[in-house]
Amino acid sequence: MAVVELDYQNLPGDDVFSGIDRLFFIPTAALAGRQEENRAVIEAAAKSGVGYLIYLSFINSPEFPGNPLAVDHIVAEKDLEANAGDMKVLALRSGYYFENFAAAIGDATTLGKVFSASKDGVISQAARADMAEAGANLLLADAPKTGVVTFVGESLTKEQMATKVGEAAGKDVALVELEPEQLKEGMVGAGVPEFVADVFTKVDVETRDGALQSDSTELAEALGRAPKTFDEFIREFLAQ
Ligand SMILES: NC(=O)c1ccc[n+]([C@@H]2O[C@H](COP(=O)([O-])OP(=O)(O)OC[C@H]3O[C@@H](n4cnc5c(N)ncnc54)[C@H](OP(=O)(O)O)[C@@H]3O)[C@@H](O)[C@H]2O)c1
Repeated sequence: MAVVELDYQNLPGDDVFSGIDRLFFIPTAALAGRQEENRAVIEAAAKSGVGYLIYLSFINSPEFPGNPLAVDHIVAEKDLEANAGDMKVLALRSGYYFENFAAAIGDATTLGKVFSASKDGVISQAARADMAEAGANLLLADAPKTGVVTFVGESLTKEQMATKVGEAAGKDVALVELEPEQLKEGMVGAGVPEFVADVFTKVDVETRDGALQSDSTELAEALGRAPKTFDEFIREFLAQ
């Protein structure tokens, strides 16, 4: 197997993916400047003659354009459609990773608090490794799926997550429900850059309206088994 290092911001040419039949494109997690990178990779894949492209997108992106985490993926999915041609394309809309909650677990176990502005909004999520394994299974499938697939495992409110962390850690963990401005101020006060605090506060607000919620069963289907639960994730995390 050959490993080639590429910088999405500076691809060496339009034929950079020549000889690759199936490509799984994971965009970066940058909060700015991603749209051009994504377009360059998608266009190069089409020009290189890639047969099947899976783009890692984000849950419910088109339905929630106000979610700052969705914006670049909405654009990329349009680029995908515009460049498809003979290339089969799939937008793999992944839900939140359990791992995104790692920092909050620290607060939960040390302060006994989880801070939120998402009220009773539900977050449909799964372990990152399960998302990766299921994505690889789709990439290698005999009959490549096209269109849109949504990967989620367990659906929980922040309050349910806080309770589960408390149970696993053997501590009282309370959910502290804040107004969006208070949440943002708290993050900034804890050293989070204002731009980043603004993004994640908006995500909490969008979560109230269902931006991170789905009842899709496609993750379990692609895995051929039940995905890891949040309880299992927390116990493994706390045991590290
Ligand atoms: N986190 C979630 O819950 C979630 C859910 C759904 C979708 N997504 C999407 O998944 C994508 C990745 O998110 P993540 O949380 O997995 O982020 P991540 O862990 O930071 O992974 C991003 C990857 O991109 C690589 N990278 C950074 N700059 C690059 C460049 N210029 N050229 C090529 N590769 C570059 C990084 O390589 P290095 O490690 O070498 O820097 C890293 O392997 C994002 O688009 C995000 O929106 C995330």
